[in-house]
Amino acid sequence: MAKIIGGITTSHIPAIGIAMDRGLEDTPYWKDFFAGYPPIREWLGEQKPDIAIVFYNDHGLEMFLDKKPTFAIGCAPSYDNADEGWGIATIPPVTGETELSWHIVNELIEHDFDPTVCQDIKVDHGLTVPLSLMYPGHNYQHMKVIPVCINCERHPMPKPSRCYALGQAIGKAVESFDSDQKVVVFGTGGLSHQLDGERAGIINADFDEECMNKLVSDPEALTRYSNDELVEIAGAQGVELNMWLAMRGCMLGKVREVHRNYVAPISNTGAGTQLLLNE
Ligand code: DHB
Ligand code: FE
Repeated sequence: MAKIIGGITTSHIPAIGIAMDRGLEDTPYWKDFFAGYPPIREWLGEQKPDIAIVFYNDHGLEMFLDKKPTFAIGCAPSYDNADEGWGIATIPPVTGETELSWHIVNELIEHDFDPTVCQDIKVDHGLTVPLSLMYPGHNYQHMKVIPVCINCERHPMPKPSRCYALGQAIGKAVESFDSDQKVVVFGTGGLSHQLDGERAGIINADFDEECMNKLVSDPEALTRYSNDELVEIAGAQGVELNMWLAMRGCMLGKVREVHRNYVAPISNTGAGTQLLLNE
């Protein structure tokens, strides 16, 4: 059976990709943020996962307000990115996966989740920045990636409880896949931030800490928030916590945290990262 070997949470702020391209990791602004990544990179280097399931959100590159799947999953052999206007360089294509992804699609539909199935999509900073962070120099092409996209841009959005349940269903699908491949799961985006409107720039570091604690010990407590509550407490884009909840659902059962970092603000965002392993 395929095995989930761990879960990783990370911000996907576009400026991170630009900072890496410009070699700014050790500058005063960035150093505490990038200090959070070597332990995760080392773990990935030791474990060598075959497949990454990446819960991300598409901020408008492929799925704009005119067509917004609630949940979408990629089943393509390869994914390109494109300039979204943030100035992130075009980077090497992300390697896709076409067997476990279809197995997940079939299992999800069997268990009453009905994702949009994508055989040709571009991926935005929500997916590419985390991969570039984990594999500096854009050295991520050896790993097969299954993008799972969650609507975090246009209301109505899927509830936190539903995102957690989606993750659980995907975790069970992985467990039932006849393969000895190792799978790592990424929850991207978050934590508190709001990019526009009157409250642009709000950060709630106390809530971010609560999220990181509860993600480990009591994720179901986080699923009791509504999206409206998340917007109020953590800003309009604080709902990106939903990708972290999907990741945590995927891990099925108890986890332990082996690494954490949090810096706020980075750009406009409370930037958290964690490495979680199954007990
Ligand atoms: C920022 C954060 C995001 O999650 C995003 O998608 C774009 C920008 C930021 O803080 O700059
Ligand atoms: Fe975002």
